[in-house]
Amino acid sequence: MRAFVLLDFERQPTLADIPTPEAGPGEVLVRMRAASVNGIDLSIASGRLRGMLEYDFPVVLGKDFAGTVEAVGTGATGFAAGDRVFGVVSDPSPLSSRSFAEYLAVPAEPNLTRIPEGVDFAAAGVLGLAGSAALQAVDAVAPAAGEAVLVSGATGGVGAYAVQLTAARGASVIATAKPGDEADFVRDLGASHGVDYTGDVAGQVREIRPGGVEAVLHFAGDGAALGELLVPGGRLASTLIMSPDQLPVPNARVSSVFANPDTATLDRLAAEVAAGRLKTPIEQTYALDRIGEAFAAFAAGTRGKLAVSVS
Ligand SMILES: NC(=O)c1ccc[n+]([C@@H]2O[C@H](COP(=O)([O-])OP(=O)(O)OC[C@H]3O[C@@H](n4cnc5c(N)ncnc54)[C@H](OP(=O)(O)O)[C@@H]3O)[C@@H](O)[C@H]2O)c1
Repeated sequence: MRAFVLLDFERQPTLADIPTPEAGPGEVLVRMRAASVNGIDLSIASGRLRGMLEYDFPVVLGKDFAGTVEAVGTGATGFAAGDRVFGVVSDPSPLSSRSFAEYLAVPAEPNLTRIPEGVDFAAAGVLGLAGSAALQAVDAVAPAAGEAVLVSGATGGVGAYAVQLTAARGASVIATAKPGDEADFVRDLGASHGVDYTGDVAGQVREIRPGGVEAVLHFAGDGAALGELLVPGGRLASTLIMSPDQLPVPNARVSSVFANPDTATLDRLAAEVAAGRLKTPIEQTYALDRIGEAFAAFAAGTRGKLAVSVS
């Protein structure tokens, strides 16, 4: 099968022909249809995670996935050939078989679920990791109707979902975005205000909410400076820290978010998409043989998600 692989640490990842995996015990084999690019894919490709995770070359890159069940391994329950499924590849050590490929063998639980009616492969393929991080960050700060929530990194994949999920709870979203297309983008997702993160973010937020914001979602930027914009007793959730001690904010509750794309979370996200309440903002779609370009585009800056289509 064709796969986008890292052959060693010396070369750029490339498209290669490698053996098609089989569904092992407890696994399903997925015929891939769609995926998306996440920062961790670039981190794995660059070798930045060397030392933390072992690499078993060739490493097939890719974490999000959507496709059709092709085969079910012994002992795997809950799925049958032909089911439309999506999910997230966990990070087993050593890293080897991931999703930027024509086929993917993954455990049938806990990071796999069915795609509901009305959700296409492209939408499901960009939902798993970024959606889970966003939903769990929003849950961590539990925005209430009428509160103000600053989303820093609102133009990225995680942020684009978080803006929508926060606005849906009746909170007023202040989203970081450059004026123009980016500001239009976050307003379309439900933000009440855009603040230009290339300028004085604190000054702009204070103009909108002189007393501060009740919550901050930290997906980019200087978390400590953002924390100073909280009202006393405010909440901050960050995907950029491993533990709350890394971002001490006096008089606030800080949560570190490590996305857990379990079945319940994936189902909640997919139900929101199916109901038309959550958009999957795809900026651009890349075929399997153009993922190198997708990586370059991701590194240069994104608005929403970069999708991968596998045919
Ligand atoms: N802990 C976890 O489980 C987990 C899971 C998923 C993601 N993450 C992390 O969460 C972060 C967000 O992920 P993502 O997939 O959304 O990344 P992304 O798509 O690269 O989004 C980041 C966004 O933030 C913008 N930005 C850059 N500097 C900024 C600043 N100073 N203030 C406000 N916005 C700024 C970027 O704009 P430009 O494009 O203009 O630079 C980009 O739109 C990443 O660091 C990622 O590694 C963690």
